[in-house]
Amino acid sequence: MIAAQPLSLKSLESSDADLALFAHEDAVLVGAKALPQALKAALAAKLKEEAFKGGAKEIARVDLEAFGRVRRVFVAGLGPKKKAGTEAFRRAAGSLLAALRGKRRAAAVLCSEHADAIAEGLALASYKFEEYKKGDADALTSLSLLHFDAASKSAAEKACARAQLRAEAVFLARDLVNRGPSDKTPNSLAELAKSFAGSGVSVEVIGPEKAAELGMGAFLGVARGSAQPPAMVHMVYRPKSGAKTRVALVGKGITFDSGGLSLKPAQSMEDMKCDMAGAASVLAVFKVIARLKPAAEVHGIVAAAYNMPGPDAYKPGDVLKAMNGKTIEVWNTDAEGRLVLADALCLAARQEPKAIVDMATLTGAVVVALGSKVAGVMGNDRRLLGQVSAAGARADEPVCELPLVDDYRENIKGNIAELLNISKVRGEAGSIIGGLFLSEFVGDVPWVHLDIAGTAFSSGDWSSYSPKGATGAPVRTLIEWLESL
Ligand code: BES
Ligand code: MN
Ligand code: ZN
Repeated sequence: MIAAQPLSLKSLESSDADLALFAHEDAVLVGAKALPQALKAALAAKLKEEAFKGGAKEIARVDLEAFGRVRRVFVAGLGPKKKAGTEAFRRAAGSLLAALRGKRRAAAVLCSEHADAIAEGLALASYKFEEYKKGDADALTSLSLLHFDAASKSAAEKACARAQLRAEAVFLARDLVNRGPSDKTPNSLAELAKSFAGSGVSVEVIGPEKAAELGMGAFLGVARGSAQPPAMVHMVYRPKSGAKTRVALVGKGITFDSGGLSLKPAQSMEDMKCDMAGAASVLAVFKVIARLKPAAEVHGIVAAAYNMPGPDAYKPGDVLKAMNGKTIEVWNTDAEGRLVLADALCLAARQEPKAIVDMATLTGAVVVALGSKVAGVMGNDRRLLGQVSAAGARADEPVCELPLVDDYRENIKGNIAELLNISKVRGEAGSIIGGLFLSEFVGDVPWVHLDIAGTAFSSGDWSSYSPKGATGAPVRTLIEWLESL
């Protein structure tokens, strides 16, 4: 990770680092008040010469006398000023990092507003997935956020620390999701969770025998088609000085979704290593939770299993019984996420939390409805829905609510069991059906479900700060939400 450190504008005089700053459309510089008049004028002239407009993704590179020497100055465009919120700064910072990382050794970014978003964009954009092949080495070894008065100093310090913590979590989620499916067995995810134990975090791994004792028949049913045993991971963070409240995060951890006997066609299977992105997000939060120090007791539950069509695979027509005693008729083994989550949600509800948030790459339908930039959100509690949507908005990981239409419950009533795992009415409201199914396992606990099938993984570049592949969503939303408790 290339993480920025705070630096005073004064200290820039004794450094040969490049200077970088941001500009709105029409080359209106941000933070110009911190620059000497002569530099401002020279820069304006150069930008004019370069025909720099300040559009989103636009970067100008000019050489100028600035703070005691001639140095390279980078200006990153933000686009229209009216739209220049946190996401515009995060993306411009991402473009800036891409322009710097390969060739420049040191850079200092002037940061007069939106320091958090700038630091985050720089850090998040420095991600590379190098578990299987190494890319070009970065030239950039020193990156600073420049402050010029007391207020900008404390903002820069806070922004740097905040961005580093978030990027560490996001990078873990991205690494896990990008990793090949055979290289992330449920047991290896459980081992990773165990490595987070200590300083407020405890970890219990529920293996197949214990899961059977607990009556997790839905979870175990899905896992039967794989030679690799499943693992239900239960992490707990307890604040040192008493918890204000208790919440649970639950993640779908299908380490590969072949569809099972209801086998997916080859093309639909290509990206199914991403089907543990919910679990990856929960693990990512627990990696940093002791440093995040939320005021709440936080339970993190990961339901990890492969969905494979092996010799003993569960079959369409099978009836599974979940931990809360509800029986489920399986019509399609490819609707497996809701089955592993059924037991994970029961386990979460049993902790008597004040809120449960689950996240899952649950339905292809949510990709059709909302695409790759917006997650579906559903839930049984308006207050919690409001909290999670607001956290998503603050993180610029937008969510859109889909209604849990009561009338549709009819469509998942079983013939020979209480529930069906898919709808009797094909091709309608697939994501809502998924949400309605999950709602059967949370009891009366306030609960929100995030369907991240579109947002967690991207087949093209997602943004300047999130390359192709795993995005790390919704890790930053979860962090925002935990911080707000
Ligand atoms: N893991 C998939 C959903 C998915 C699709 C995630 C695309 C990421 C990208 C899920 O287990 C699944 O197969 N869902 C089925 C449900 C259907 C059988 C009711 C789907 O969406 O087709
Ligand atoms: Mn599936
Ligand atoms: Zn799946």
